[in-house]
Amino acid sequence: MRTEQPKVIHLKDYQAPEYLIDETHLTFELYEDRTLVHAQLVMRRNPAAGSGLPPLELHGQDLELVSLSLNDRELGLGDYQLGESTLTLQPDSAEFTLDSSVVIRPESNTALEGLYKSGSMFCTQCEAEGFRKITWYLDRPDVMSKFTTTVSAEQHAYPILLSNGNPIASGSEDDGRHWATWEDPFKKPAYLFALVAGDLWCVEDSFTTMSGREVALRIYVEPENIDKCQHAMDSLKKSMKWDEEAYGREYDLDIFMIVAVNDFNMGAMENKGLNIFNSSAVLARAETATDAAHQRVEAIVAHEYFHNWSGNRVTCRDWFQLSLKEGFTVFRDAQFSSDMNSATVKRIEDVAYLRTHQFAEDAGPMAHSVRPESFIEISNFYTLTVYEKGAEVVRMIQTLLGAEGFRKGSDLYFERHDGQAVTVDDFVKAMEDANGVDLAQFKRWYSQSGTPRLVVSEQYDPQAQSYSLTFRQSCPPTPGQPNKEPFVIPVALGLLDANGAEIALRLQGEDAASGTTRVLAVSEAEQTFTFVDVPERPLPSLLRGFSAPVKLEFPYSRDQLMFLMQHDSDGFNRWEAGQQLSVQVLQELIGQYQRGEPLVMDERLTEALRSLLQNETLDAAMVAEMLSLPSEAYLTEISEVADVDAIHAAREFARRELGNGLFEPLYQRYMTNREVSRQTAYEASAEHFARRALQNIALAYLMFSERSDILSLCLDQFDNADNMTERLSALASLINSPFEEKRAKALETFAEHFKDNPLVMDQWFSVQAASPLPGGLERVQALMLHPAFTLKNPNKVRALIGAFANQNLVNFHRADGSGYRFLADQVITLNALNPQIASRLLAPLTRWRKYDSARQALMKGELERILASGELSSDVYEVVSKSLA
Ligand code: PHE
Ligand code: ZN
Repeated sequence: MRTEQPKVIHLKDYQAPEYLIDETHLTFELYEDRTLVHAQLVMRRNPAAGSGLPPLELHGQDLELVSLSLNDRELGLGDYQLGESTLTLQPDSAEFTLDSSVVIRPESNTALEGLYKSGSMFCTQCEAEGFRKITWYLDRPDVMSKFTTTVSAEQHAYPILLSNGNPIASGSEDDGRHWATWEDPFKKPAYLFALVAGDLWCVEDSFTTMSGREVALRIYVEPENIDKCQHAMDSLKKSMKWDEEAYGREYDLDIFMIVAVNDFNMGAMENKGLNIFNSSAVLARAETATDAAHQRVEAIVAHEYFHNWSGNRVTCRDWFQLSLKEGFTVFRDAQFSSDMNSATVKRIEDVAYLRTHQFAEDAGPMAHSVRPESFIEISNFYTLTVYEKGAEVVRMIQTLLGAEGFRKGSDLYFERHDGQAVTVDDFVKAMEDANGVDLAQFKRWYSQSGTPRLVVSEQYDPQAQSYSLTFRQSCPPTPGQPNKEPFVIPVALGLLDANGAEIALRLQGEDAASGTTRVLAVSEAEQTFTFVDVPERPLPSLLRGFSAPVKLEFPYSRDQLMFLMQHDSDGFNRWEAGQQLSVQVLQELIGQYQRGEPLVMDERLTEALRSLLQNETLDAAMVAEMLSLPSEAYLTEISEVADVDAIHAAREFARRELGNGLFEPLYQRYMTNREVSRQTAYEASAEHFARRALQNIALAYLMFSERSDILSLCLDQFDNADNMTERLSALASLINSPFEEKRAKALETFAEHFKDNPLVMDQWFSVQAASPLPGGLERVQALMLHPAFTLKNPNKVRALIGAFANQNLVNFHRADGSGYRFLADQVITLNALNPQIASRLLAPLTRWRKYDSARQALMKGELERILASGELSSDVYEVVSKSLA
């Protein structure tokens, strides 16, 4: 907890470390009521940091110091100073060895940072600054060391003892304890350290690398989960192969391990050779995990594996550079997922997510650049901006350089910086040097926060047969950044003729046309590009594939959008045209609702979707995506002032209209796909995902008919499906339907059947927490008393409280403020238990500026109440105080 005024850390204050740690030798003695950690650090003065012997200041938190010695001389009280979270001593030579022994208390560590217990197993989480809760250290990523780790524990309860690198020795003692020693040959920062001890089973496999080395692959889980590892193992092997092919990157140790733990703050962690995963990001099998969960597992396994190069072999100099590894690695896992599944669908999902959530972050009080300038608590900067927008920035570099140029740049980056802790500038420099380009202006994407707006206007000159597009860019002010300089915005575009055919593109001044999609680099506040040889007024298809994370505005008519939906050769933009059409239609309904008029929906939307549904040649996954209306959260994000009730009413009205208006084709597509599902064994493949996605969205629409034959179909799918994807969406449709008795019955059967599977129970909590039916808060409060719920498990908190506050907008934003009060109460409780989870849970309250003045006052009132509630963690303090500033 925070006792002093929180310190703000600034990028501009970065200084190289005064000392280095060449070797780190750790010994852990694990007991039920305490753990003893002995650390021997082989250290020396950093020659790059200057001359003389300044004091050595080590980081540490919640450590009980037992003994300390310098070059084998035991230090007494007068030899060192203990501060709030530092230990300072004076070395007397440029090279020395420091030995320390401390006691730590993993068994009562509810923050899940450092060494802690998850159920009966010991595990660690050290990123970003958790290693200092294990031992006195230079806990910063630019201090890289070779680690040897010995773990000892009671043999019966903890038969498996793991750490980074390769196992080099082990043995047992007479007293029932045993030990194992691991050695990691690669230098690494402390945040990549890991240790696991428990009663675990493992699934084993192997992978032969491109140079012919054999790597042992192991996934460790609690015994009851041993049947849920195959999908992760397959994903791992695919990732290893893909990274060799796409980036020329080979794995470097003899063994690669994944451990699944139930209590974990994030998705997973890339510790060298020993990835530790939230069980929700590893375990998957048809009966218990949805298609979305399967895809998430594949993506996260890949993400953590890819970190072995983008993060571990080349790491970050300081935490301001976090996007160096995260943005790049998210970009890499997105490329991998698009190669494994449908590339267009993956892009649609990523863009929808970015525009809904990252754009909201960019517009809120915590807005920061991809490379932040300052922070109070680094844990608060594992954000959508650092990860998702960071990935978009890397993607733009690839768009500007082309795939080949980008690969040259990444090769140079890995080669030049292998074994180093570097910066975003080093990454961009490698891209520049490999391609002979200047990305100086482009780099504003790393330093300026906020979402740029790009307003486009057109001019066609029939005489000259020329067509001009004028781009005007601007970026709204964000905290600490009132004015912005122009960005370099790559705009991929094409021009369609009246038949929907692509026009060959020739810019004024060029000798000949080349290609039908071109990337224009818009770099000025206002800039015009003129195409020549344009025989008729074209319809532009702009920002293809969402080539830049901007808000693009072009005055399309609804008929033009319908035309693009049908004819655009870019699959992403066909979906985008449908979304824009839906947005226009929904905003019209919102207006009608607000004026108290009867709701009347533009039938063109129904007709556009009808022709999609009737076209059996289209990819089923695309049809499913196009049938999904923009979410309430997205409609909120694009509103000036979000009217929660109007948004919900309008969207529900539109869904009902579509369900009834398209009953016939939906019914037909549902029945056909369901028949195939019944006759085919489950597969986690793109084709199967597509079929089930269409089947399930069709069912959700059909349920609006409230017909008893449809209810029977839904119940049948719920009872008889052999996979969680079908079962859960039937359940979701049911519990939001008016069939009250069936609702209760279905929930009960489901819970009875899956009560012993915590990940399935998370889904059961989530569907209920997200249900927009009245009384949502009371349902959530009742569920908090359910035996399967606990505030100590982050997955449970996210599944119930997180789903309520983020997905159930009508109930959370109830006008009486009860949703806000409830969330603030949970944040206050969690602040003492798990500050990282508390601070993440707060996000919806920080968005108060989006709402009417009555709700604004209520939301701010709760933020103030949190601020006054007592001693706050730096995590919660930073978010609350910045939100009120
Ligand atoms: N570095 C992890 C990842 O993105 C995320 C993480 C951060 C996990 C901090 C735990 C703690 O792959
Ligand atoms: Zn990552």
